[in-house]
Amino acid sequence: MRTIVGVVLVALFPAVALAAEFPEWAYPVAPQGLPRPDPNKTVMVPGSDKKYTEAEVNNAFGPPDWFPNDHAPLPKTVANGRRPAVRACGLCHLTTGDGHPESSGIAGLPAAYIIRQLGEFKNEGRKGVRTTAMKEIASAINDEEAREAAGLHQGGRERDGAEELCRRRRHAF
Ligand code: HEC
Repeated sequence: MRTIVGVVLVALFPAVALAAEFPEWAYPVAPQGLPRPDPNKTVMVPGSDKKYTEAEVNNAFGPPDWFPNDHAPLPKTVANGRRPAVRACGLCHLTTGDGHPESSGIAGLPAAYIIRQLGEFKNEGRKGVRTTAMKEIASAINDEEAREAAGLHQGGRERDGAEELCRRRRHAF
């Protein structure tokens, strides 16, 4: 009976179901209707002497490297990617691998895990509202690029239980 009530509720209130599945605090949405940033405006960040324009900040094939001395030379796939579909990993995961709030932190994940996840995004073993970008990239990346990109994060900070994390995520999506 409880199941039937649940099914009926989900059918009647899909937005409620969606909100419950993707709570706002975990999946923040960009405010709507903001003016578009001026592409020529100069952007700086504290602690870096680099300057980029807004357009350069959003360059999917050469995103900013605010702290070039803080990391080893970046593999090409991380720094530039490959047109048209392999966008530079650094665009969303940053040069540290820590990622933007909406993109996973991948620093410290084992290379084998990263490579396996690329496969999962490609074959839709991982699904969800945030997977669109990764599916496109993972479908276009070649094996050599995937290994190169994954290697960057090896030997960095270790993140416990990546295998366990992977298993849980598979069930979550
Ligand atoms: C346009 C933004 C964007 C770019 C560029 C991007 N990613 Fe991602 N990536 C994401 C988002 C968003 C997620 C979270 C997806 C999800 O959990 O459903 C993600 C998740 C991942 C994950 C899963 C991490 C975990 O904890 O399971 C891996 C691995 C990954 N990306 C690797 C890469 C690699 C390698 C590249 C470069 C070839 C790359 N990404 C480029 C946005 C991006």
